[in-house]
Amino acid sequence: MTPDPQWWRQAVVYQVYPRSFADSDGNGIGDLRGITSRVPYLRDLGIDAVWLSPFYPSALADGGYDVDDYRNVDPRLGTLADFDELVGALHAAGIRILVDIVANHSSNAHEWFRAALAAAPGAPERNRYIFRDGRGARGELPPNDWPSHFGPSAWTRTTNPDGTPGQWYLHLFAPEQPDLNWDDPEVAADFITTLRFWADRGVDGFRIDAAHLLKKDLSEPYRPVPTIGIVADYPDDGSHPLADRDEVHEIYRSWRRVFDEYTPPRVAVAETAAGPVRRARYAGADELGQAFDFDLLDTPWDAVAFRDTISACLDGARISGSSPTWTLSNHDIVRHASRYALQADTDLNRWLLANGTDPLPDLAQGLRRARAAAMLLLALPGSTYLYQGEELGLPEVADLPAEVLQDPQWFRDAGARKGRDGCRVPIPWEPTGPSFGFGSGGAHLPMPAWFSDYSVERQVGVPTSTLELYRAALRLRRELHAGESLTWDDGTEGVVSFVRDTGWRSITNMGSGPIPLPAGRILLASGPVPGHEVPGETTVWLQRTT
Ligand code: NOJ
Repeated sequence: MTPDPQWWRQAVVYQVYPRSFADSDGNGIGDLRGITSRVPYLRDLGIDAVWLSPFYPSALADGGYDVDDYRNVDPRLGTLADFDELVGALHAAGIRILVDIVANHSSNAHEWFRAALAAAPGAPERNRYIFRDGRGARGELPPNDWPSHFGPSAWTRTTNPDGTPGQWYLHLFAPEQPDLNWDDPEVAADFITTLRFWADRGVDGFRIDAAHLLKKDLSEPYRPVPTIGIVADYPDDGSHPLADRDEVHEIYRSWRRVFDEYTPPRVAVAETAAGPVRRARYAGADELGQAFDFDLLDTPWDAVAFRDTISACLDGARISGSSPTWTLSNHDIVRHASRYALQADTDLNRWLLANGTDPLPDLAQGLRRARAAAMLLLALPGSTYLYQGEELGLPEVADLPAEVLQDPQWFRDAGARKGRDGCRVPIPWEPTGPSFGFGSGGAHLPMPAWFSDYSVERQVGVPTSTLELYRAALRLRRELHAGESLTWDDGTEGVVSFVRDTGWRSITNMGSGPIPLPAGRILLASGPVPGHEVPGETTVWLQRTT
C-alpha cells in the first residue's frame, strides 16, 4: 500500500454490499469470511480500497442501515476476529478499507432506544432521540406532518410500559430507524468512540451515511418541508429544518480532529444530497475530506449534459480543495447497465413495478453505454466509486416477485415503490449451481438464470468481457494517472473528449453513428474500434503521438 496520506484523491473504491457478495457458511447471507475468500479477486481487479456497507448487528429493516450495535459484527456475518482477518487480508493485498457510519439514526433494537421507551417522557434516556407529544386532545395526532423518506409519516407513536399510548418519535427513514438527537453530548461522544474503535482496528476510513441530516431545527412552530423531498429535493441554502443545516459541520470538524490523530490520517466521504457548492463544505480538509458527487446518476446520456455535470463537480472539488468522486451505481439505485438500456425519461419505479417489461430494455445498448461511461469516469481526475457487479456489466433484476422484496420503501409506501432490492441480488461467481457460486445454501434474494452469462468465471480471461475491460482500465489508470486536471477538447457534437495532464486523451462518442478517430495510439477501448473511426457509444483512450 502506498504510504501517501493523499492516497484517496485518485483512488478507485469498490463498494461491497456484504450480505450479497459471498457466503462462506451457506446460510444464504453473504459474510465477512466470504469477502476474505474473494480478496484475490479484488486484488486482480486492481482497486485501491473497499467500502463495506453495514455489517453490524441489525434486524435488517433497511438492509443493515438500522444498526443495533455500532461496535460489533452481525453474528450472521461473522465475528470481530473475522473482521480483523478481512482487514489483514485486504491490507496484505494492498487494498484499503472504509466502513459505513450510520449516525443519523440507530435501529429501534439499539439498547439506547429500548432504554428510551422504558423511560418516562423528559428522562435523559429519551433525550438521545427525538420524542415529542402528539397533537390533538389525547395526543393522537403526530407532532407535525413531516414525511419520512420511505413514506408516509416521519413520526411513530410509542406505547408506554403500562400499555397506554405515549409520545411520538421522529424517524426520517423507517420507524425501525429512530433519529438520534445530535444535540445530546452523549450521542456525539459515543460516535467518537465508534470512530476510534474501527480506526484502532486498522480501518482506513469511513463512508458517512446521510451526512447532511444529523442536525435538525425542531423549534416551533414547525416549518413545513417539501413532500417526500427530505433527502433529494430541498432548497440549497441551508434553510431546510431537517437537511444540510450549517450546525452539522461542527460535528464533522470534531471528527476530523479524530481522523488526524492517526497516521496516515483516516479519510471519510460524505453521503449527502446537497448541491455541488454546499457539498464542498462536507468535503473540506477540516471536515470529512470528500463528498459523493451523485450528479451523474441522473444525467441523461447526452454529451452536453455529461460535460456540464462533470465540469460542475470539478468546480465543486476546486472549492473544497478535495477531489471529485465519480459514481454510476450503488445499492440505492437501478444498476446503470439497465438505466442506459432505457429511454432517459423512463420512470424507473414504474419500470420496476412492471417487472422490467414496460418498456423492454435494450440490454445491448445498456452494456455498450455502461462500458463507455465507466471508461469515461475512470479517465477523469478524482476518485471513482464502483458498485459490486458493475465490473461484470450486471443489469438490474427488475422482476423480483413481491413476496421476496425486503426494502422498506416497498412496505412503507404500500406497494407504490418497488424499492432497491433489484440491485442488491447477490453477484454471480460461477456459471452454474443454485446460487452461481455465491454460497452453498442459496441466496437471500433469488438470482435469475441469466446471471450465468455474467458470472466471473465466464468473463475471466475473455479479452472482450466487461470484467477484463475494468481490469485493463484500472491497470492502465495506475500507469497514466498524474496530476488532477484535464483540458477539454473543443466540442464535437455528441462527444465528450479531454486530454489529461500527462498528454493522453479520452474520447467518448455518445452518439449512435461513428466519428473519426483522432491521431494517437489506442491504449484501450470500451468496444470494437474498426478502421479509423470511434463507433457510437464507445470510449477510446489514446496516447497522443506528437
Ligand atoms: C442511505 C443509504 O445508502 C440507504 O441505503 C439507506 O436506506 C439510508 N441512507 C438510510 O440509512
